[in-house]
This record gives sequence, structure tokens and C-alpha cells, in this order.
Amino acid sequence: MNIEHYLSQCQERVDRQLLQVVSQAPVGAERLREAMQYSLFNGGKRVRPMLVLASTEALGGSPELAVEAAAAVELVHAYSLIHDDLPAMDDDDLRRGKPTCHIAFDEATAILAGDALQTLAFEQLCQSSSPLDAQTQLQLVRALSKASGIQGMVAGQAIDLQAVGQPLTLEQLELMHNHKTGALICASVEMGALIAGATPQQRSQLNDYAQCIGLAFQVQDDILDIEADTETLGKTQGADVALNKPTYPALLGLAGAKAKARELLEGALNALGGFDERSTPLRELARYIVHRSH
Ligand code: IPE
Ligand code: IPE
Ligand code: MG
Ligand code: MG
Ligand code: MG
Repeated sequence: MNIEHYLSQCQERVDRQLLQVVSQAPVGAERLREAMQYSLFNGGKRVRPMLVLASTEALGGSPELAVEAAAAVELVHAYSLIHDDLPAMDDDDLRRGKPTCHIAFDEATAILAGDALQTLAFEQLCQSSSPLDAQTQLQLVRALSKASGIQGMVAGQAIDLQAVGQPLTLEQLELMHNHKTGALICASVEMGALIAGATPQQRSQLNDYAQCIGLAFQVQDDILDIEADTETLGKTQGADVALNKPTYPALLGLAGAKAKARELLEGALNALGGFDERSTPLRELARYIVHRSH
């Protein structure tokens, strides 16, 4: 399988969906819509929507069934990045190689764009035109809302901000990463499994896979903050170090963090034992997450 081709196909599918989603705004809210579009179409890798599609396909489900869920996860992700970059949080000027939303627009618009992207995500999951039954739609809403809030990403962000400048144990760091980044990645895989009607055994294996790549994703993000240059990264290199953020390299050293990422990749691939060749995109995505350069 040509994975590059598969990934660009997924990206096109998701981008088409996202383009439809933010096409209208009432008079007076045009600037808000522009800010939302700006933050959705500034070059994201679309890893989470790809995971939704790949997980559906690994179990023989059609990607057509999963495109709205894929868009929903990206909408939550895009919102989380806008807020993450705000002066009150990481205070970053650069995202995906371009000025962050609050720099390109203004702070209030950035806050509102995040808010509106988030609610739009849940609207995507309960369209009356959806080919999915109401029970499945409800399960998707539950999975994504749980992963986004106090049980997931937002809690991780709170732990992150609270931990700045404080030494964390490895256990505390892992807890933070699992919430901050892992939860949304796990939800992406889980949503694909729900759409494809996975058996409990398949769901459990996919969950093991997702736990590993979710953590690996943030370990690699921390490594790249040190190793990559700003241009490749598309965000300010060294931002974590400058803010004294708790990270894997800070705790384990660079070599230790890299070993951890490799170990997690192996764990992810092992978790898919027994899945047939339709799981190739999931395996390739795991490799990509650990070997990516930005
Ligand atoms: C960046 O996520 C934020 C983290 C959770 C580490 P991505 O690296 O997926 O960002 P984009 O969407 O590709 O820009
Ligand atoms: C952000 O983590 C994770 C989110 C929930 C948005 P980071 O703060 O490490 O993400 P980057 O490095 O700014 O992309
Ligand atoms: Mg942050
Ligand atoms: Mg940040
Ligand atoms: Mg980071």
C-alpha cells in the first residue's frame, strides 16, 4: 500500500468536509468565520481525522461513514490549538508556520473562534442526514465530549499550566500527557471503532494501540521542540524550554525520550496483533507519529 497516497486521500476527504462546515455566518460575524477558517486551513497534518478513518477501515467500515466524525475531531483539535497559543496560556506567535489566530486577528476573536469550533464539532456528530443510527451518534458524542473536557484534553491543559516550573515525576508527566494529547487521539481511534461496530475484543486492542500512540505523539512533540528548527516545525522552536514546561526530554534526557518513543511504537504495533492487512494505515500512522519531523 502506498501510505503517502492513502494519507493525502484522507486529507482531501476531511478538508472537503471542513470546508463545507464553516461556510456561513450571520451578518456581523464574518470576522469570526474568517478566524475559524484561518485556523482550520493553515496546514494541519490531520493526524486525528486520519486515525478515525483508518480505524474505521481497519475493521472493514466504509470511510464515507466516518467523515463527519473525522471532521469533528479536527474541529476540537483546531479549537484547542487556538486557545493553547493565547497569551494567557502558551503565548505563542507562530502556528503551522503562520501567525497564531490571536495575532492574525485579535484575542477576543481567537477566543470566540475556539468556542465556535468546539460547538461545531458536536453539531457534526448529530446531523440528521448522517448515515449512522442515533445510538452510534450518541456514543460518538459521548466519546468526543469526554475526551475533550475535564476527563481529557482540558484537564491536561490545566495540569500543564499548573506544572510549569515544577518538577514532575514520570508518573505525573505521563498523566498530563495522556490527558493533554492522548485523550483526543484515543477518542479518534475509538470513534472509528464505534462507527465500524467493533467487537469488545477489537475495541480493547484498538484502545491499547491508541494509548501507546497518544503518548508517543506528545513525547515526539516534546522532542521536536528541542531538535527541530522553527521553519520545519512551523511553531517556535524551544518554546517549552523557554517556558520551563515539564516535558519528557526534561525528565528523561533526549536519548531517554527517544527510547520511550520507540518503545511506545512497538507497543502500538504489537497491540494490533491479529488484525489483517486493512490495519496497514493504522500501523503506518503509528510509525509516522514517532518519525515525523513537525
Ligand atoms: C500539536 O498537534 C499539538 C499537540 C497536541 C502536541 P499536531 O502536531 O497534530 O498539530 P497540527 O494539527 O498538525 O498542526
Ligand atoms: C498542546 O500541547 C496540546 C493541546 C491540547 C492543544 P503543546 O502546548 O505542547 O502544543 P504545541 O507544542 O503548542 O503545539
Ligand atoms: Mg500548551
Ligand atoms: Mg503550546
Ligand atoms: Mg509542544
